[in-house]
Amino acid sequence: MERFHVAIIMDGNGRWALGRGLPRVAGHRAGAAAVRRVVEAAPDLGIKTLTLYAFSEDNWTRPAREVTALMKLLGRYLVEETDRCLKNGVRLEAIGRRDRLPAPLVALLEDAERKTAHCRRLHLRLALDYSARRAILDTALRLGNLATEETFTEALGPDVDLLIRTSGEQRLSDFLLWECAYAEMVFTPRMWPMFTGEDLAEAVDAFHRRDRRFGRIASESDARRTA
Ligand code: FPP
Repeated sequence: MERFHVAIIMDGNGRWALGRGLPRVAGHRAGAAAVRRVVEAAPDLGIKTLTLYAFSEDNWTRPAREVTALMKLLGRYLVEETDRCLKNGVRLEAIGRRDRLPAPLVALLEDAERKTAHCRRLHLRLALDYSARRAILDTALRLGNLATEETFTEALGPDVDLLIRTSGEQRLSDFLLWECAYAEMVFTPRMWPMFTGEDLAEAVDAFHRRDRRFGRIASESDARRTA
């Protein structure tokens, strides 16, 4: 089976928490546990690259307390998970801007990236202070005359095969706009803190049932079925 790229917009932490009378930060904490579950489940489902939308450029507009709590959670995740990633063959990498992230978090990221650089079982990319439009613009400016589909893809990362968004919302929110050109999309009402390895397996199953045509006509068998 060809290994593929899954990207997830992890949405619904705040609503999940508020619905239980908890502070929003409790939702992010439960969301971090969901991250652990999907990272554990992903390699055996054939996923080669998993990109998680952990913090967008727009998320800086949230109340300072929530932003600080998210940064702390991300730091704690790296402290607690880097060794496990190493043991499980998970290469960890951050995409997005680094110059506005807290310096201790950047140091943890760089340490995790260095330690896990050789791991090949799963490529886990955390999108932090990320904006797809910015990534595309920066790449275009950097490549200049050398810009082609191939050099863009090389600079930005692999095409997304399956995009999942939780919490019932159905939009891309400036996530991997170039890479999602031919992505299959699965939207689930499940709030991110409730998302499990089984939910991921279900989304992957749905993906495998899709007929990906990339602009071509339907396969012969499909054509006969719909004739
Ligand atoms: C969206 O839910 C979620 C985020 C903006 C942050 C995602 C962060 C985590 C899952 C936790 C930490 C991440 C890692 C990688 C350890 P929301 O707050 O927008 O929810 P709402 O739409 O219900 O308000």
